[in-house]
Amino acid sequence: MELKGKLADAINAQITLEIQASVVYRQLAIEMDVQDLPGISGWFLAQSAEELVHAQKFTDHMTDRNAAPKIGTLTAPNVTINSVLEAFEASLAHEQKVSESIRNLYRLAQQEGDIDSIPMLNWFIEEQLEEEASVGEIIGRVRLIGSDGNGLLRLDAELGARNAAAA
Ligand SMILES: [Fe+2]
Ligand SMILES: [Fe+2]
Repeated sequence: MELKGKLADAINAQITLEIQASVVYRQLAIEMDVQDLPGISGWFLAQSAEELVHAQKFTDHMTDRNAAPKIGTLTAPNVTINSVLEAFEASLAHEQKVSESIRNLYRLAQQEGDIDSIPMLNWFIEEQLEEEASVGEIIGRVRLIGSDGNGLLRLDAELGARNAAAA
């Protein structure tokens, strides 16, 4: 079924939000690289790439339904990061914002009776749940590490290894 109207506009806005998330993660990767943590930096780079896959998933949904999305305005990622904890907290805050935006898409799809978008939105709801859980777990571990340099280096190696395995 052709996608148009309010829901098309909202999904289009979501594409921009996912690309914006990718840019934010890329900046966080830079911040961690500057702090000599290549593993954590690589973890954020992998997240950045994943956000572009999300953007593409929404884009494909729209073009499959004869809609023509346009990427909206991106803003500079205004993140000031002084610690690893702050980097992951910024990441969680952004994910929570994205989750709420996807819930709003779901509410709108229901309101509009748009059955075709529901399976895709269900996928995203589950994906966001996982994203928030994995970032939340890392935050918990960073808190446990506190100011222990060795602990931080171990986490850096671990997150770096996970990227290497996924690549
Ligand atoms: Fe995403
Ligand atoms: Fe994400």
